[in-house]
Amino acid sequence: MPHENAQDDIANLELSPAEMRAMGDAVMARAVAHLAALPAMPSRGDYTGIEALCRSLREPAPEQGSELPSLLEPLFEDWIPRSFNAPGAGYLAYIPGGGVFPAALADFIADTSNRFTGVWQAAPALVQLEANALDWLRDWMQFPTTTRGLFTTGGSMAMFNAIACAREKLLGDDIRSGTLYVSSQTHHCVTKAAKLAGIAHDRVRVIAVDGQFRMRINALAKAVAADRAAGLRPFMVFSTAGTTNTGAVDPIDAIADLAADQGLWHHVDGAYGGFFHMVPGLRPLLPGLPRADSLTLDPHKGLFMPYGTGALLVRDGEALRALHSSTAGYLPQNQNEFYDPAQYGPDLSRGFPGLRIWLTLKYYGAARYRAALAEKRELAVWTAEQVALIPGVVMDAMPQLSLFAFHLESPALATLEAQNAATQALMERVTRRGRVMLSGAQVGERYVGRVCVLGFRTRRAHMQACVEDLAAEAGQLLAEAASH
Ligand SMILES: Cc1ncc(COP(=O)(O)O)c(C=O)c1O
Repeated sequence: MPHENAQDDIANLELSPAEMRAMGDAVMARAVAHLAALPAMPSRGDYTGIEALCRSLREPAPEQGSELPSLLEPLFEDWIPRSFNAPGAGYLAYIPGGGVFPAALADFIADTSNRFTGVWQAAPALVQLEANALDWLRDWMQFPTTTRGLFTTGGSMAMFNAIACAREKLLGDDIRSGTLYVSSQTHHCVTKAAKLAGIAHDRVRVIAVDGQFRMRINALAKAVAADRAAGLRPFMVFSTAGTTNTGAVDPIDAIADLAADQGLWHHVDGAYGGFFHMVPGLRPLLPGLPRADSLTLDPHKGLFMPYGTGALLVRDGEALRALHSSTAGYLPQNQNEFYDPAQYGPDLSRGFPGLRIWLTLKYYGAARYRAALAEKRELAVWTAEQVALIPGVVMDAMPQLSLFAFHLESPALATLEAQNAATQALMERVTRRGRVMLSGAQVGERYVGRVCVLGFRTRRAHMQACVEDLAAEAGQLLAEAASH
């Protein structure tokens, strides 16, 4: 029986210590076995019959309980494996995730202790740990001590809070006249976040990029001037510290200058690339990043945290507080000395996102993180150099951080359409080999293949496999094209 006393007292949901231990042991055994088996798993799970599987999973809410092992069995044996192997070493698609083990244990502690971290008074020491973690991010990004931040569920929600904050400070109630500037390579979540924050699509200006996919500063200046001339109120510009499509780093310094001159709020999207700033030797790759008014970071990317960990830093912490601070007669009075999550973010009841970061960073120490990030960058540079040598490969973007993009060309691939189709086929065929997973992106008219190195499990051997499989499949594709 799932519950010892289920017969006589079904209203009692408490489990005995022995039951909890047995359940915990069962989950731990499964989870550790799963992680140990990751290297042998394909980079993308088997999707055969996936629609039928999903349809078969639909069911009404269970009236009676089940034994835990009967739930764990299909989860670990069937459902988890039939997915993108995002924590795997061969995952070079999109922006890799990770999921470091100490963070999972921190989540377990956070969920079993289940303390309320919305207001400081409810768990003062725990909230202080979260504040420490935010301060560490602030220091690594070389932001001033006036900075306050917020852990969010991801980059998208960090953008939403940043836009709401800038809008509140610079536009007040006059939202409709405000205009916001992104590049054609800005992540689509910004436009979505703008809409959520009350900035409609017709007030978002998309600025063209240069040959290296970076925002054109002259085009930005022109767009701002045109909006002013039309009686609108330019208020916010986004630059990206590592775009998702090609890894481009916008001219952050020049955009910061223009923003200062024009009184715009400058937000830097460092969701993918921001954590490279942790490594002093790599800071020259992100010049101007510390000048941002606000910054998105995604610890579930660059700090290898489990999904559900984003972060926002706001240079003028009081502006973030002005947006979110509120009081209620039934809650403790707001206080000023200590960080108070509900005063700096939209959530009241919330989980304890700070613990996974605090515990993991305390466990590993920042030095190991810096080493891991520097290694990912080196691996990307090495791999890009090898891939550039593959016959038929044309590089579209060498790694500015740890992501590069390329496409296939040959006399037999005469049209852009043929090149796009071949490049797309290359990504798919390499992924089907099972050692690495790659994804591509449509960038204007061109479909580019891409490789992003950010998984903490990704080491030299996996990048060697990537080069080998790309060379083999590119050769095969070009031979097929030539013979048609
Ligand atoms: C550059 C960039 N910005 C923003 C986002 C959105 O972040 P999230 O998926 O955490 O909401 C991503 C996600 O891949 C990204 O790569």
